[in-house]
Amino acid sequence: MRALTVRPGTAGSLAVREVPEPPAGDGDLLVAGVAVGVCGTDREIAAGEYGTAPPGREHLVLGHESLGRVQEAPPGSGFAPGDLVVGVVRRPDPEPCGACAHGEPDMCRNGRYSERGIGGLDGFASPRWRVEAGYAVRLDPALHRTGVLLEPTSVVAKAWEQIERVGARAWFEPQRLLVTGAGPIGLLAALLGVQRGLDTHVLDVVTDGPKPELVRALGATYHHDGLDRAVSGAEPDVVLEATGVSSIVFGALSRTAPYGITCLTGVSAGGTRIGVDGGALNREIVLDNDVVIGSVNANRRHYQQAAEALATADAGWLERLISRRVPLERATEAFERRDGDVKVVLDLEG
Ligand code: BGC
Repeated sequence: MRALTVRPGTAGSLAVREVPEPPAGDGDLLVAGVAVGVCGTDREIAAGEYGTAPPGREHLVLGHESLGRVQEAPPGSGFAPGDLVVGVVRRPDPEPCGACAHGEPDMCRNGRYSERGIGGLDGFASPRWRVEAGYAVRLDPALHRTGVLLEPTSVVAKAWEQIERVGARAWFEPQRLLVTGAGPIGLLAALLGVQRGLDTHVLDVVTDGPKPELVRALGATYHHDGLDRAVSGAEPDVVLEATGVSSIVFGALSRTAPYGITCLTGVSAGGTRIGVDGGALNREIVLDNDVVIGSVNANRRHYQQAAEALATADAGWLERLISRRVPLERATEAFERRDGDVKVVLDLEG
């Protein structure tokens, strides 16, 4: 079958190639691929900066934001042919560490986890793939076009869970949310903020294209003229950072309301140095009981939370978040940045 592959560590190696059918060892469910999403991590892997091939192999099948339809499911698996499913990305480390042993590989302590389509395991950018029933999540059939947003939503659902668990250490009734970055993660974070009844503000830099309208359609407020203006009305109780831009990260930390919680989700490249008044920042965090959390990946529980969030979201809004659909054979086009792109997906059914 044809699949989107890359030779990790080699820039320019992204290609649709012939690969063997998915081996039975990949899982008891055989799934017909519907779509995969392309994100910043995929672009990093394509640029040779991230990712590892399965042991003993040169190539990795890309794609960790999956959507497919079950073709074959063994009796007792809890799945049936026709079910719309998404595969969980991360698998526990072989040891396993305490977190992995407790079903929370997203919190792995030794870093030896593997990730489908990213690190050590083939991904889902192929017309057929397999997954273990324990790592498959069933979706509402109504999400047959937009369920590919589940994986990024799971990342956001985990971030929200972390924020709420940290908030619960004392009295916590947040009113105002600032999301920095109106990419797919930022927009989905805003969606979940609005679903929680928060006064939601989103900061980005663009003034045209679909992002401002997508924010407004949620009933949230769009800001494009800098952090100072975005927080001038009131300081946020919660910041969900989704740019990874150093000046925004550190700027946001010092502009939260007392008991502010900042959750960082943007994976930045190192090498950028900025001037930070460390003493003032420390003082602000201490005197305000502020918290900064880093959050990555998601476990099965977060995928379930995300599935519920998507099932109750406006279908048209989710559809507009997917700004471009590219057939698998032309997959490399999905990696070119085009004006108006929000989430670009590969269509595996064409
Ligand atoms: C994925 C996560 C993954 C992370 C680091 C992100 O793009 O959504 O599932 O853990 O990359 O590899």
